[in-house]
Amino acid sequence: MPSSSLPQSVTEKILKSHAAALNGRPDREVAIRIDQTLTQDATGTMTYQQLEALTANRVKTLLSVSYIDHNTIQIGPENADDHRYLQTVAARYGVIFSRAGNGICHQVHLERFSKPGQTLLGSDSHTCTCGSVGMIAIGAGGLDVAAAMAGNPFCLTSPKVVKLHLKGRLNPWVAAKDVILSILNIFGTQGNAGYILEYGGEGLQSLTIPERATIANMGAECGVITSVFPSDERTREFLSAQGRKNDWMPIEADDGAEYEKVVEIDLNEIVPSIACPHSPGNIRKVDEVAGMKVQQVCIGSCTNSSYKDLVIAAKILKDGKIHPDVSLVIAPGSRQVLRMITSTSALDALLNSGARIQECVCGFCVGNSLSPMTSGISLRTNNRNFLGRSGTKSAEVYLCSPETAAASAISGELTDPRTLDIPYPHVEMPVHFVPDEDLFLKPPMQIEDVQVYRGPHMGRLPLNTPLPRVIEGQIAIKLGDNITTDHIIPAGKRMKHRSNIAKYAEYVFEVLDESFSSRAAAIRDNGKHNVIVAGFSYGQGSSREHAALCPMYLGVRVVLAKSFERIHITNLINFGILPLSFIDDADYQWIEYNDELEIHDIHEALRNNDRVIVFNKTKGRSFEACSLMSEREKRVIIVGGKLPYLKQMSQTKQDR
Ligand code: F3S
Repeated sequence: MPSSSLPQSVTEKILKSHAAALNGRPDREVAIRIDQTLTQDATGTMTYQQLEALTANRVKTLLSVSYIDHNTIQIGPENADDHRYLQTVAARYGVIFSRAGNGICHQVHLERFSKPGQTLLGSDSHTCTCGSVGMIAIGAGGLDVAAAMAGNPFCLTSPKVVKLHLKGRLNPWVAAKDVILSILNIFGTQGNAGYILEYGGEGLQSLTIPERATIANMGAECGVITSVFPSDERTREFLSAQGRKNDWMPIEADDGAEYEKVVEIDLNEIVPSIACPHSPGNIRKVDEVAGMKVQQVCIGSCTNSSYKDLVIAAKILKDGKIHPDVSLVIAPGSRQVLRMITSTSALDALLNSGARIQECVCGFCVGNSLSPMTSGISLRTNNRNFLGRSGTKSAEVYLCSPETAAASAISGELTDPRTLDIPYPHVEMPVHFVPDEDLFLKPPMQIEDVQVYRGPHMGRLPLNTPLPRVIEGQIAIKLGDNITTDHIIPAGKRMKHRSNIAKYAEYVFEVLDESFSSRAAAIRDNGKHNVIVAGFSYGQGSSREHAALCPMYLGVRVVLAKSFERIHITNLINFGILPLSFIDDADYQWIEYNDELEIHDIHEALRNNDRVIVFNKTKGRSFEACSLMSEREKRVIIVGGKLPYLKQMSQTKQDR
């Protein structure tokens, strides 16, 4: 890390050591060099098609890994075809390929590749998990990740850093999941887009890396840029146990480092907590809602699938049987975790209890399997419980710790684990983890000879046209607050169409309005632009750029909302969709579905004061809206998106 005379936070140290030059005026952005990237298969097919469109050269990062962990059900040939594409394109570009069954990208990356002091950009919103070892690890849209692999810096809004000062230590039966649920209770799920959460304080000493990973992982649900922990003695122990002690370096905040604000959290005061349907921000204490019957309990996902999580569950379930009305599913986060619980008595204890063991994948978390019964109650240790994400729209999904989940699986009802009649099971962190690397495929030396496979279902990469000066639009849908990317374009059983935008676009807003796609296509074919109107926090949740790409394909040119979430607004800009915010939120009230709108002089407005006049032809009224984009983002959107922008930039360089 570079030295500086001014005291620095962990965040500043890593960002400053990766500072890159910005093209044009820096205004509100910083640009950083990206050391590592990760992709997963649900976002990867588009990411690598975009990489192919950008360059024919080997990736320029220090390390890039392509994981298969989302679409592993493989009903029909689409997923298997996509996986073969991903395997061959990884080999062609010098990317390590992690085969299906190797584990969930964030868990595996943490185990095998995380490196304190480095930067990581991933096409998955929970890439922030690796912030647990002192990385700046950021989730982004696939196009941003493709651009980083091609050697471009990543631009982010100059962050405001909040220090979370942890003191005390967790009481028995209280878990890292309860810590992050308590933090979500403080910060909520919206309005945190420009922040980085940096952890510090003496309370850190008692938190292992898997526990820190759970906390960093669900920072994504607060909507922050990322979360970061110092790299300390616990980090060194974890990396040594992974056989990677040379990857460790210490990184701590300097005394006197300045933060936007400091929030003190006393770990002693945290109690078992739960996120109620249908938002991870809908937090209650477990003892306030205990007693309701549950039909399904799922332990796993990138939030809580570590060795420690599963051994705790095994120790609680040991000598007991799950309730006959409960289906208990255990999904280890990686083959390493599976091997570790197999080599101890933990797997046996889980099997004896009646648990089902799922392969090491996202599985239930992404809703492509294990959907709950109609109107069923499902307790899960993952990070999102949005309406319909589980695959059952009528189901109620609650998010909790492995301790609460295991206790409830035995009793058949939501149970505060503190009421169990057993001593709290202590789990020692292993001194050596099994270094399972069998399912990684390293790229060949001669990458130029690799033939990239493309299945018959793979569609073409759609591109937008330059931003017109005048938009003549029609309101295709009017939405409320907290619209997530799961609402915009569902995962689950629809996910197998991720590499075919024309097909996948048929499901835009399916969970809210099944006729949206055909209506929007009709408006587009009629020569009009589609406009989406929404309330606060539009685009929460996953990083899937399909939530911008598919609406773009349907002719959506403007999203007019009270506010946007970080990754999604960037994805809109990257694909040439103009994000506009209401200046006066009261104007939202008198816009209705089907209203016709006109916006004139858009380019001039972007050049001048960022304000546009929106004329509602149907109502005969005008109002003002603004676009809060950086100078670079304005250049991107004017040419129709990031892909044409990067191509233009590279052409300009060649012409010089
Ligand atoms: Fe996978 Fe769920 Fe995490 S889909 S990457 S386990 S949020």
